[in-house]
Amino acid sequence: MRRAIVAGILFGLAGPSAAGGIDILARTCNACHGLNGVSVGHSMPSIGGLSKRYLSTVMKDWKTDKRSAVTMNRIVKGLSDDEIDALALYYSKLPWVPSPQPVGAATLAAGKAVVNENCEDCHGKTGSDPDVGAPKLNGQWARYMTLELEKYRHPDFRMPHRKMRKAARDLKDGEVQPVAEYYGAQDR
Ligand code: HEC
Ligand code: HEC
Repeated sequence: MRRAIVAGILFGLAGPSAAGGIDILARTCNACHGLNGVSVGHSMPSIGGLSKRYLSTVMKDWKTDKRSAVTMNRIVKGLSDDEIDALALYYSKLPWVPSPQPVGAATLAAGKAVVNENCEDCHGKTGSDPDVGAPKLNGQWARYMTLELEKYRHPDFRMPHRKMRKAARDLKDGEVQPVAEYYGAQDR
């Protein structure tokens, strides 16, 4: 099982000498999240260039089971809070590299209308200029964002951010994919 192997590697590295080991630790993250945290897999998020505060908040929420995940909850259990902060700092210093994905004009227009109304106050018009605490979304993978939005919408998933949860639940069923594809199409 690939996940068990990854967890094993992380546990093996999680020691007090981690400061110098952040590069090595980050390599285990990049196995899934891509070189420098720029993902090439459509259901895997890019993480390089997200804010330190956002990165460390989500990882600590997983560690304390405040937040649901499919994979990351198991991975962060092997990390100390200091290692989480060091990884958050490391990735926040890398550039955010959007992966703009082509989308049809009709979907783009539909997504844009919903974003103007419901999302841009917090994430910005193209997703590149978010409020403190909100992640960048421009050129994030649409497939991944659709999956995350469904988690915020589903009562069985623990997603602690109340306002984001409400914004996701206020979407109509047919609006989830267009907003994700709109932000995913933005190159800056
Ligand atoms: C086995 C593959 C895998 C590995 C290894 C991995 N991740 Fe993840 N990561 C995921 C998946 C899948 C998600 C989506 C959330 C979920 O379902 O777990 C994710 C989500 C994230 C997110 C949320 C991104 C966002 O935009 O909200 C962060 C931050 C993150 N991972 C950081 C890390 C760090 C740091 C490491 C190394 C310690 C790491 N990941 C290792 C698979 C992985
Ligand atoms: C009140 C501010 C606010 C509004 C409005 C809002 N968001 Fe968010 N959004 C956030 C915050 C803050 C987070 C991180 C929350 C967390 O830690 O769980 C987030 C997270 C996300 C994520 C997860 C990103 C990732 O990398 O995992 C997506 C996707 C997203 N928002 C899309 C949207 C869309 C689409 C809308 C409009 C329908 C929207 N948001 C409206 C504040 C907001």
